[in-house]
Amino acid sequence: MDQPLASSSSLAASNDGVTEVLPPVHPAPTAPANEGSTPATPADSDYPESASAIHSAARADGRKDARRRRGRFAWVDANTPLAQLEGRNVSAWFGERKVLDRISLTMPAGQVTALIGPSGCGKSTFLRILNRMHELVPSASLAGEVLLDGDDIYDASKKLVDARKSIGMVFQKPNPFPAMSIYDNVIAGLKLTGLKAGRDEKDELVENSLTKAGLWKEVKDRLRAPGGGLSGGQQQRLCIARSLAVKPRVLLMDEPCSALDPTSTRVIEETMVELKEEVTIVIVTHNMQQAQRVSQQCAFFLASQGTPGVIVEHGDTEAMFADPIDPRTYDYVNGRFG
Ligand SMILES: Nc1ncnc2c1ncn2[C@@H]1O[C@H](COP(=O)(O)OP(=O)(O)O)[C@@H](O)[C@H]1O
Ligand SMILES: [Mg+2]
Repeated sequence: MDQPLASSSSLAASNDGVTEVLPPVHPAPTAPANEGSTPATPADSDYPESASAIHSAARADGRKDARRRRGRFAWVDANTPLAQLEGRNVSAWFGERKVLDRISLTMPAGQVTALIGPSGCGKSTFLRILNRMHELVPSASLAGEVLLDGDDIYDASKKLVDARKSIGMVFQKPNPFPAMSIYDNVIAGLKLTGLKAGRDEKDELVENSLTKAGLWKEVKDRLRAPGGGLSGGQQQRLCIARSLAVKPRVLLMDEPCSALDPTSTRVIEETMVELKEEVTIVIVTHNMQQAQRVSQQCAFFLASQGTPGVIVEHGDTEAMFADPIDPRTYDYVNGRFG
């Protein structure tokens, strides 16, 4: 039945796009949730590199024993298994007003799915439903299912914190903690959840996350400088690193480049293209060129004349841009409205 399932609570005030959401908790270092078969201290044979390569790598980065470090901190390096996210018959309300009507969309593992459509058609709302942020908005409610690898994140047995842990979010406006150091920004998710990690573990995680976010080279010599001192594009990559540090399986990005200059935008796009190899990405964008450059799947949202948002058309990005089925999609992707 298409009626609200979850009512909002007054857990936290939230406003569109700029909410500072606490990064989610991190799995325990010695028992990574997604690395069930990996022993805490893997045998040397688990690593293909020769001993000399390992030791020269260790010398190169000034550390004493890379092999021991890698063995001990395998959770830092471990890739997260790719996950598929699927919305089924998702509807959303703010108070009595329905803003999304039975949205069904599969966001395949290891791909970038772009959500496009004019302002106000419910793209951000849909994104917030995908990681259980919508329910924190006063007056908000929703219906439907969101399946992460087949498991409904709204199932009564599932915790909100687990959804946040698995499904990270990056906002339009970069929101690092401005006075906090770059280093501490990256590991903020660990700190806020009280997880204890050793110094070496943290160093490894910070380097790893910043590298994946395409920021390491630019900041490695000033990790103790405040995050607020970085440029807008760097701050956004810092936020991406902060999200990655808790090893999400899906990364949601709500217009992550709309406040950035073209050069920063390009760097973030390149980062996304690389990241999709290890984390499923869903991006909202108003930039049609960007949708074509970064995404493999695309969904066109539309809400006409005060009616709730629906998906008009979705599928392979190339096909949707080259040969859309619905004339409204054609008009939108060719810049005729929106
Ligand atoms: N916190 C809120 N309270 C009430 N209405 C909201 C709230 N956030 C969004 N809306 C409304 O929901 C609809 C969808 O908004 P949104 O998901 O932000 O669209 P989009 O991201 O596509 O621009 C809009 O009509 C918007 O005004
Ligand atoms: Mg939006």
